[in-house]
Amino acid sequence: MIENGGLDMPRPIPLPDGHGAGDAVIEIRDIEKIYQLEGGPVHALKGISFTVRRGEFVSIMGQSGSGKSTLLHVLGCLHKASTGTFLLDGVDIAALDDEQLSRIRNEKVGMVFQKFNLLSQEDIVHNVALPLVYAHVPRHARLDLARGALELMGLGDRLHHKPTEISGGQSQRVAIARALVTEPALILADEPTGNLDSRTGEEIMGVFQALHRMGRTIVQVTHDREKAEYSQRIVHLKDGLIEKVETVERPRQAPIVQLGAKAKSLN
Ligand SMILES: Nc1ncnc2c1ncn2[C@@H]1O[C@H](COP(=O)(O)OP(=O)(O)O)[C@@H](O)[C@H]1O
Ligand SMILES: [Mg+2]
Repeated sequence: MIENGGLDMPRPIPLPDGHGAGDAVIEIRDIEKIYQLEGGPVHALKGISFTVRRGEFVSIMGQSGSGKSTLLHVLGCLHKASTGTFLLDGVDIAALDDEQLSRIRNEKVGMVFQKFNLLSQEDIVHNVALPLVYAHVPRHARLDLARGALELMGLGDRLHHKPTEISGGQSQRVAIARALVTEPALILADEPTGNLDSRTGEEIMGVFQALHRMGRTIVQVTHDREKAEYSQRIVHLKDGLIEKVETVERPRQAPIVQLGAKAKSLN
């Protein structure tokens, strides 16, 4: 059983942004993204470089329009950058065609969204199993893996509930289970607490901190300074550029979340 947030736990040592680090999950250099619109091009990212090493928990912050979602979509292989280089877990993304890009996305990235993006007609175990359909995992194994991921999230007794039958915090934990089920190299979250009340949001930060302690690599986008302080490093974006990279000396500690506890369901 993994405990998170105990003050006696050793703090992870924040790593410097190591250029050319061997164990980088994300290595981007001079990334630009230009949207071609009828009214003219929009230069959403203007030359972004940074590295995220395996096991880091990093936040991307910035005002609306600063390019956070665009950057997250590039990192999640939903869009390709217009120029620049991007190594994802050692794979050169610029060289891939669209089909290879979707395969890499499915294999290496788990995404968590503000609005959960669950299929309302399917029960939660089938929602969590869905990425494994695309990965061609046989049905029986899919459901076993999905059950395991939901048990990790404390939802082992809700497998056949529909998304409409659970709370917002539980829905986000289902979405996190779905992001984890393929054992991705990277978890990306876009405003994961944006639709939650502050207590539930803090609980979700506790889940991310627990996953971080298990060695997961997590990048979240947030406009909320407090949420960013649960991570180790904050990349500040402004007008499509990195304004500064800040090390969080003493990350906030969310209340203890016990992953794997059988549905002592937090809310
Ligand atoms: N699909 C798109 N097509 C055209 N322009 C876009 C698109 N997505 C974002 N933009 C523009 O790119 C800039 C950055 O947007 P975005 O990445 O959504 O920022 P943030 O998530 O920080 O609010 C904005 O000027 C926005 O209008
Ligand atoms: Mg956005």
